[in-house]
Amino acid sequence: MLVLGIETTCDETSAAVVRKRPEGGGDILANEVMSQIAEHAAYGGVVPEIAARAHVDYLDHLIRRALAHAGVALAQIDAVAAAAGPGLIGGLLVGLTAGKALAWAAGKPFVAVNHLEAHALTARMTDNLPFPYMILLMSGGHTQLLEVRGVGDYRRLGSTIDDAIGEAFDKVGKLLGLPYPGGPNVERTALEGDPARFDLPRPMLGRPDPDFSLSGLKTAVRNEATRLAPLSRTSVADLCASFQSAVVDVVIDRTRAALRVSREGGTRPEALVVAGGVAANGAIRRALGRFCGESGLRLVAPPPELCTDNGAMIAWAGIERMERGLVSDFTAAAHPRWPLDARLETRHHGKA
Ligand code: KG4
Ligand code: ZN
Repeated sequence: MLVLGIETTCDETSAAVVRKRPEGGGDILANEVMSQIAEHAAYGGVVPEIAARAHVDYLDHLIRRALAHAGVALAQIDAVAAAAGPGLIGGLLVGLTAGKALAWAAGKPFVAVNHLEAHALTARMTDNLPFPYMILLMSGGHTQLLEVRGVGDYRRLGSTIDDAIGEAFDKVGKLLGLPYPGGPNVERTALEGDPARFDLPRPMLGRPDPDFSLSGLKTAVRNEATRLAPLSRTSVADLCASFQSAVVDVVIDRTRAALRVSREGGTRPEALVVAGGVAANGAIRRALGRFCGESGLRLVAPPPELCTDNGAMIAWAGIERMERGLVSDFTAAAHPRWPLDARLETRHHGKA
């Protein structure tokens, strides 16, 4: 099984070719990713219209390059998969239309993929991980804890009620005058700081529901920064370190709550998978490593380039769906909101 995958949900344009291994797991034959960070840096965040236009500019080149690097012709592909949501509508339409057109022209099946599902299934491509497992997804747009029981069978344990974790890192970086994106720069600056200097809040700590809230913590950083302005280099480093240490505490506490909910529900996840750009954070990774050791879980952290948005994960999700006969038709629509958990889906669609 050989699938071409297309990703255009946010600010990465990507096309990839993945082949299923007979023994399980997948081989990435090509994974072309074009990040638009430079285009959005001047605005301090992703501008949807700029993103959509950049996807139009890059995507056909990346698809051609992915096929060339993989050394396969379109005729050899078994299916074309494209992310159909959740994400920014302009980008979704670009990727979805390109994917459908290619599939149509080549006479191949088309698979519309949920971007969150693709993150959730990546560990099966890289580590051939068996179900069930838990995933902690932390990116600029999403913060979710999910139980992955099978393909198409997900239970959302918790998510953020306000900002995503990556968004909180980015906002803190911005208000402290660090370059965009804030996440990696906050982590780097925190290395020189004192995590105990500021006693910042740890929202939701100890609550039984595994939900997150980050906006109060970000506001607390802003208040300290305003109080101390103009900020010295030391204060900036201490604020970064104190913020990151609060985030670490929150992530571990919320993951512990999710594991409890999952086990009480009768599921026995054997592994915790981390995904999303924030999974690159060393302090968070180390703390999760300790937590998993204490909790009898295996920590699975795919390589950073597969934790962030990429076409290979879309191709892999396409393979998993194809194997189960879950093919889409050419009327498949883009879904700016598309929760993985079917129980939540009806509710959100009812509202939209
Ligand atoms: O998964 P990702 O590439 O996709 C989007 O959400 O677009 O995640 C990007 C997010 C950004 O918010 C970025 O600041 C954050 O991940 N991030 C980090 C680190 N590296 C990236 N946050 C904290 N520490 C890091 N080392
Ligand atoms: Zn993503």
